Formats: sequence, C-alpha cells, structure tokens
Amino acid sequence: MTRKITKAIFPVAGQGTRFLPATKSVPKEIMTLVDRPLIQYAIDEAREAGITEFIFVTSRGKGALEDYFDHSPQLEASLEAKGKTDLLNILRATNMESGAIAYVRQHKALGLGHAVWCAGRLIGNEPFAVILPDDVIQGEESCLKQMVEAYEETGGNIVAAMEVPYEKTSSYGVLDVKEDMGQIVSTRGMVEKPKADEAPSNLAVIGRYILNPSVMENLSRTQKGAGGEIQLTDAIAQEIEEGRDVYGLRFRGQRFDCGSKAGFLQATVSFGLAREELRDEFSNYLSELHSLRSAAE
Ligand code: G1P
Repeated sequence: MTRKITKAIFPVAGQGTRFLPATKSVPKEIMTLVDRPLIQYAIDEAREAGITEFIFVTSRGKGALEDYFDHSPQLEASLEAKGKTDLLNILRATNMESGAIAYVRQHKALGLGHAVWCAGRLIGNEPFAVILPDDVIQGEESCLKQMVEAYEETGGNIVAAMEVPYEKTSSYGVLDVKEDMGQIVSTRGMVEKPKADEAPSNLAVIGRYILNPSVMENLSRTQKGAGGEIQLTDAIAQEIEEGRDVYGLRFRGQRFDCGSKAGFLQATVSFGLAREELRDEFSNYLSELHSLRSAAE
C-alpha cells in the first residue's frame, strides 16, 4: 500500500529574468494565460490530484503571490451585490482553505534541488509532489493526477516524462531507460542537462515529480552539479544508486514551456482556442493572419 500524496512543493523563487521588464514588479508565476495566472493552472492541477497542502518556496519580491492567494471579501461582496454570479464563482473557485498554503523562503539561488530541500521540514517523513509552474500541461486529465494513479500501482519515485529532440536534451533532466513498458519506463539513471551526444536517451523530465522522503535526505548531501547548481535530478538519481525505483510516466497532455517566451505565446494561443467564448473570434483572427502572411510570402 502506498501512502496518499497530500503535499506538493511549488518552487517559485526564480527571478524570471527571461521576462524582464515585466518581472521587475510582477512575479512570473502571476503572468496570465488568457485570464488566469500561471500559478493557478498549477494549483488546479494539484487539487485535481488530491493535494491539500501547498508549499511555496519563494524569494524576495514574490509578495504578489501571497496576495493572490488571499481571499478578497470586499470584491466578493461587491460582485454579490451587483448579482454578478459568474464572476463571483470564478473568484471563489480560486479561494484556498485557511492554513492550506505555507511559504518558505529560499535565501540563496542555489538551484532547484536546494529550493525543494528548503521545504523539507514541512514535508517530514512523507512522500510528496513537486510541481514546476513554468511547465503548463494542457489536457483532459491533470498530469499530476495521472502520476498519482501510476504511483499507486508502482510506488517508488515517479517523474513526468516526454520525448524531446536530441538537440534539446541539454535543457532537461534526461532518463537512462532500463525497461520501456509503454506508458511507464523504469530507469537505471538520470542526468541533468546532458549534451545530445552524451544523453542516455531523449526521454526528458518535465516539471512534475512524486518523490520518496528519502530524496530530501539525499538533497541535504547533494553537491553542486550541472550549471554549478544543486540539482533535484542528482538527488533522484541517487535513489536509483541506492536501489530504490524511479519511473518515468509518459503523461497524456500537451506541455508548454512557459519559462520561455515562445512557449508562453504558444500556450496563450492554445489556451485561448480552448475557451469556448473566445474560440470563434480568435481562430478567425489566426486564420486571417495566416492568409495574410502566406499572401505576403
Ligand atoms: C528543471 C529541471 C530539469 C527538468 C526541467 C523541466 O530545469 O532541473 O531536470 O527537465 O526543469 O522543465 P530548468 O528548466 O529549471 O532549468
């Protein structure tokens, strides 16, 4: 029997320099896809997977995130008084239970592994999830929920995985596949950001993890790795070295890298087209744009 996964860590300490000047005053996790901040997509995905405790690893300048998760009684009252029930429901759906969110600060930007380690005391001796909000996954079923279901079957550690072109392996953690069972693969190793000719496969880790508490212990001993940072990948790879299982799950859904401008724009288009109230107008615009560009070429 596996233990229920109730806690998720959201590393949100990054400065988002790729989105300057916007991120001078707005945390990148508050940037919006259509009308919802990136972080809201991550929270909804976690809730759908049964997560009830949300741990944010923050840094200086991330106050807007805490404000976002506060309730807004005045706004709710005014919408109620005006009978704007639809908006009220949208607003209320984002309300979090009191005490469900905790914030810890990462005082130094030492890497993703260090950020996760900062939440260690709040995790204690339980398996836990990690969600990187930059990776937004669009699909019918929450990616983390798919992982929780897989975890209930396999136990061990599970990472979300996706094939990428070999020339992109240097942007990801990459799995050394032991046995490929289709949707799930077992692993014999994991490497952070290998060059194409050194990558053990092209199956990349996407920012969703279900991890044993022993990963936290590993992290307390993990030395700096790729890019001079303390890497989560290295602490997970240590699990394999110590004889514990690590699986990759090829999830159903489309992943957008919202940490990059191109990925963010693609996500905006895709989430825009997925919204019934916008679909017609927006897709007409895109078709016109496409014909204009083809005519000009
Ligand atoms: C992080 C992880 C990497 C993973 C990636 C997924 O890298 O270190 O293993 O493949 O997220 O998005 P980052 O994108 O923060 O450099």
